[in-house]
This record gives sequence, structure tokens and C-alpha cells, in this order.
Amino acid sequence: MTDRESIGVIGVGWVGLVTAACLAELGHEVWARDIVSDKIDSLSRGEVPIHEPGLPELVAKNESRLNFTTDMAPVLEHTELLFVCVDTPPTYSGDADLSRVEAVIAELGDSSDHALVMKSTVPVGTGRAIQRRRDALGYVSNPEFLQEGSAVEDFMKPDRVVIGADDGWATFADRVQTLYAPLNAPVVRTDVASAEMIKLASNAFLATKISFINEIANVSEELGADVSEVARGMGLDGRIGPRFLRAGVGFGGSCFPKDVQALKQLAGNTGYHFQLLTAVVEVNELQKRRTIGKLQKHLGSLVGKDIALLGVAFKPNTDDIREATSLVLSGRLAGEGASVRVYDPVAAAKADGMLAGAQICDSVLEAVEDADAAVLVTEWPEFAELDWAEVKRRMRVPLIVDGRNFLDRDALVAAGFTYEGIGR
Ligand code: UDX
Repeated sequence: MTDRESIGVIGVGWVGLVTAACLAELGHEVWARDIVSDKIDSLSRGEVPIHEPGLPELVAKNESRLNFTTDMAPVLEHTELLFVCVDTPPTYSGDADLSRVEAVIAELGDSSDHALVMKSTVPVGTGRAIQRRRDALGYVSNPEFLQEGSAVEDFMKPDRVVIGADDGWATFADRVQTLYAPLNAPVVRTDVASAEMIKLASNAFLATKISFINEIANVSEELGADVSEVARGMGLDGRIGPRFLRAGVGFGGSCFPKDVQALKQLAGNTGYHFQLLTAVVEVNELQKRRTIGKLQKHLGSLVGKDIALLGVAFKPNTDDIREATSLVLSGRLAGEGASVRVYDPVAAAKADGMLAGAQICDSVLEAVEDADAAVLVTEWPEFAELDWAEVKRRMRVPLIVDGRNFLDRDALVAAGFTYEGIGR
């Protein structure tokens, strides 16, 4: 039998909503609070304001256990464990902006009945600093490892659950662990600072893996190797593993760029220069721009050229455009004098005004009409199913830059396209 808890979720963004819906699915009563009233109004009507597979169904199914509110009072009245899921965006200096976390703490007054369960990604040391100031408030670190597009499944079938608690708060940590017990996942019980570091180090490592394979791709292009083959051969080594070895136009999203920067900055604040992460960021920035060179190789100057970008989201199955390569590319292409048309099945509207004047199209065929090249930026499944003969008829120059090595190269070449991948 599940021990039923009444749980607070503070901040109903993407992490908060997935957490709230999944905890409700596990049988708990959830009080989810956000300060944005439009969001709470939509959720109270059963409308899910973000694109995340399976989430609308989960929210609908657990409607009776999900209470959405803008008011902190009922949350504090009904719950003791408060899952903090507010934004911690980077500041200009690269440090994390903790003002939203601080606002939550301020609202708790001098409560000694509640525990913060920190899901938001915070700098290593944040938990200890909060505990020093607020020693009556319970504190547990429980970082999230959810990937957009598969967040519900990641929550329900995690590789591991990390729970950090310092002396005195083992009881709250036990209660958090009990919540996850039905998932049968390995649990890492540790101290708060180590839990905070596990989160940052995991994302920084995955980002490093991507920048590494992107550099292997760039060198493979020069030396005549195919990075897909190289990654396949490397990935079968159990010590390396096959995941996050897909070369492409660089990583984006709300986590990797921010977390790599945050860890680099944290190290820097202690006087340690984290050289590897400096390179990871630099390689990624260059990778986002390399497509320009590939286009110039075939088209010469890009002045007056029409370029179609297929995909705006930072990856498929999400409408998230944060740190997306499409934003950088459209700006660079405009800077080179090209006209840009973009298509994305879900994210284009969100990017309106952020794509350097690019024209947003309703279909791939509209985007490629009279284009001098098409660049695949996001590997949306529907791009693999396109009628390429028709695409070729529409384009002025049948040039495809496949920024994710996602398309069938041989089929495209057979259909008369000039194909450029990444590292092949
Ligand atoms: C990531 C982490 O995976 C997750 O654990 C964390 O909690 C939040 O950040 P997410 O941002 O949703 O999740 O994206 P992810 O699927 O990890 O991809 C990040 C970026 O890396 C994307 O732009 C993706 O296109 C790129 N990527 C990923 C590659 O370029 N190559 C790969 O092999 C894998």
C-alpha cells in the first residue's frame, strides 16, 4: 500500500507540473502553486500550457488529486513537504539567479513545520547556506533529471533518485524516499552538497560528451571518417556507452548551457579554472555556427540567398526554444544577407520575433519553395517522412544540410540532392 502524503509543489513550470502530475499518479494529494494566475486558471480548467507527451492525459486522469492555486496559504496548511520547482536562470555573470527560491523561503515566514525539497537546480552550497539561515526549516535536495519530450517516463522510470540531506533531516529525507519507492529505482542517499553536485556534474558530463563527439565529427570530415560509424563503434564499449554521442549542430535547451556555465562559474568563484568546461562551451558555440561554412562551401556568398530552416525547437517533441541552435543560425544567416524561412511543427509561434526577421511558414513545402538550401536543425520524426521528390521540385537548389545526421543520405543523393551531414 502507498503511504499517502499531501504534497506541495511550488512553481508549476515544466518540472513542477510533471512532478505534480506524477506524484498525483502515485496516489498523493498535490497542492501545486504558481504566481502566474493565467497558468493556474488554464490548469484549473484542465488545459496543459506546455507541449509534453503524456502530460495532458496524466493531469486529466488525476484531476481529483491535483489542486492548482496561486495562493501559498492552502499549500502551507495542507502539506509539509514542499517540492521547490521554481526557475533558477543564469544571471549575466553566469551565476544562478536564486531570487525565486528566496521568494519562496520568505513566504514560509518562520515555519518549523515544513521542509523544502529542492528540485530546482541550484549552485553547490545553496542548501547549506539556506540551512544556516533557517535552521528550523527542513531541507532535502532532490534534483530532477527529466528530459523534455520524455519527462513523464523519466519521472516514472528514473535511472536513479538522488536524495541529499544533512544531519537532522533524515526523517524528511526518508519520507521523500518513500514517495519514490513504487518506482523501484536505485536511490542515492547523500549529503546536500553532494546531491547538488551530482546534478551539475551529470549535465556537464553529458554536455562534454556531445562537444567531444562534435569535435570528432569535425575532424572526421577532414580525414574521411564517418562520425556515425565512429560513435557506433565507440558506444559499444561499456565504459563509454552509446547515448549522447550523436553529432549535430550543438546542444541547446534550458539545462545544458546553463548548468555547464553554472559549474564553470562556481569553480571560478573558488579560484579554480575549469578548463574542460570552458572548451565544452566554446566548441558548442562554434558548432552552432559551422552550418554557415557548409552553406558557403556550396553557394558561395549567402547574400540574397533563400535558406529554409527545418525545426526551431532545441530538440524534437518539445516546443521549448531556449538556447536553440535555430535562434543563432537565423541571426547569422540574416547577418550574411540571406533570407530565412522556418518551419517547426509546434515551436515556431513561440519563436516569433526571436528569429532575426525570418518568415515563419505553416509547412515544410512552403519553407523550401525556391530555397537555395534547406537546413535540418531539429530531428522531428515527420522530417524523415517527407515527400523528398516534391521538396526537390520546390527548391531552386537541391542542397540539404542535415544538422542531425537524421535523414537517409543515400536516398537523398539518389533523389538528386546534394547532401551535407555532420562529420560524414
Ligand atoms: C537535459 C538532461 O538530459 C536532463 O537530465 C536535465 O535534467 C535537463 O537537461 P533536456 O534539456 O530536456 O534534458 O535535453 P536533452 O535530451 O538532454 O538534450 C540536450 C541537448 O543536447 C539538445 O539540444 C539535444 O539536441 C542535444 N544532444 C543530445 C545532442 O546534440 N547529441 C546527443 O547525442 C544528445
